Amino acid sequence: MRLSVIGCGYVGLVTGACLAEAGHEVICTDIDADRIAKLKAGQVPIYEHHLDKILTAAGNAGKISYTADAGEAIRFGEAIFICVGTPPRHDGSADLSAIDHVAQQIAAEARSPKLVIEKSTVPARTGIELQRALTAYSRGGNGFRVASNPEFLREGTAVEDFFHPDRVVVGVEDQAAAEQLHEIYRPILERRFTCPVHTGKCPDTQKAEFLVTTISSAELIKHASNSFLALKISYANAVSDLCEKLGANVEEVTHAMGLDPRIGTQFMRAGLGFGGFCFPKDIQAFISLAATVGVDFEILKAAERVNKQRIDRFLEKVSKALWVVKGKRVAILGLAFKANTDDIRFAPALEVMRRLLEEGADVHACDPEALEKAKKQFPQAHFHEDPYQALQGAHAALICTEWDQYKKLDWEKAGKVMARKLIVDGRNLYTPAKLREQGFEYVSFGRE
Ligand code: UGA
Repeated sequence: MRLSVIGCGYVGLVTGACLAEAGHEVICTDIDADRIAKLKAGQVPIYEHHLDKILTAAGNAGKISYTADAGEAIRFGEAIFICVGTPPRHDGSADLSAIDHVAQQIAAEARSPKLVIEKSTVPARTGIELQRALTAYSRGGNGFRVASNPEFLREGTAVEDFFHPDRVVVGVEDQAAAEQLHEIYRPILERRFTCPVHTGKCPDTQKAEFLVTTISSAELIKHASNSFLALKISYANAVSDLCEKLGANVEEVTHAMGLDPRIGTQFMRAGLGFGGFCFPKDIQAFISLAATVGVDFEILKAAERVNKQRIDRFLEKVSKALWVVKGKRVAILGLAFKANTDDIRFAPALEVMRRLLEEGADVHACDPEALEKAKKQFPQAHFHEDPYQALQGAHAALICTEWDQYKKLDWEKAGKVMARKLIVDGRNLYTPAKLREQGFEYVSFGRE
């Protein structure tokens, strides 16, 4: 099928690339002409595992193309995926101006009926507004149909998540839209693609369910899922605080809890809390949406509050260990909001860095992927590619992202170059006893 993708961020590019790999003909467009120029030149503007491989293969097979001309992209596809940003406004609600802008473009540029699919994360009832905008701006013409198809892609494993989803949710108003979306996803559901993640030998897991719902349900499923996961993390963090006070071990507690399949072990890692461009904004947007219909989503407000307090708790541990922070050289290991991404949006590490700089610490940071982005925001900090250089002369090592490279760090070697053998671990990466055996003072979350 001919498909258009509007917005070449990580959701749009992964969607376009994977659907092209699955055999569709895809055109991608973006308001950022530089980004399109890079893509045309074979460069991938974001770091996402496996994405470069599939974009190259799809490009060579002539299945994917790029244009800075939104009109050209809109006219090409039988179905159009809207993958533009929905950032938070100052009151926490989602800013839908990019969706509105795209609706006006589609209404003006389309010359034939289109299925317009919202993939961006949007509050419930956006589909209704989108349909209204398309009808109004096209003056009732062109027979647009709207659908919602939320993404459940985690940054860093987005390609794997796209090819191996737990569920494909489509919110539609009519059977024809459901059938069209089923056709789009058929190669994924039937696993008819070359999997770049498992090099053709995908694990024999259960195939994804294709769920047809109303548009409002589909929109709500996305916000409710992300908010629930955020809530789960905050719950684990609250339990972790309690463990510290009562002398228990949060890992023993969450592991045992998680073995109950009703609870599950995932998203129970205590530490610095959640960041990124999804959970913090989605939880706020969900609270805000609920408020507009008179529902006080208190439980989510508490989850958000617990998450914000993680930074305070971490910095309290740093201050307690260092006694005086001013003038101390501290190494921050990890800037990205989580491992395997270069994304630093709402990353806890950045807030830690900002507050330490404010206190007068001499901050030396490193990250395998996010250095360039962070450098622009913090001209007063020092940045290193090599963690051992960041640790040179440091009075403390602060672990802020759960990168594998840091899990495997040679602390024997690091200890020799540090001014003080102190680790404050915001991601519980190490076994306390092991580091203490190596002569480190080691502080983490929810474990003695
Ligand atoms: C999240 C969801 O997991 C995806 O399903 C969803 O599609 C995506 O948002 C989205 O809305 O686009 P993502 O933001 O990429 O994906 O990251 P996660 O892997 O969910 O992690 C979010 C944050 O929670 C990270 O900062 C991570 O370090 C933190 N986290 C995660 C914890 O603190 N503890 C945990 O146990 C798990």
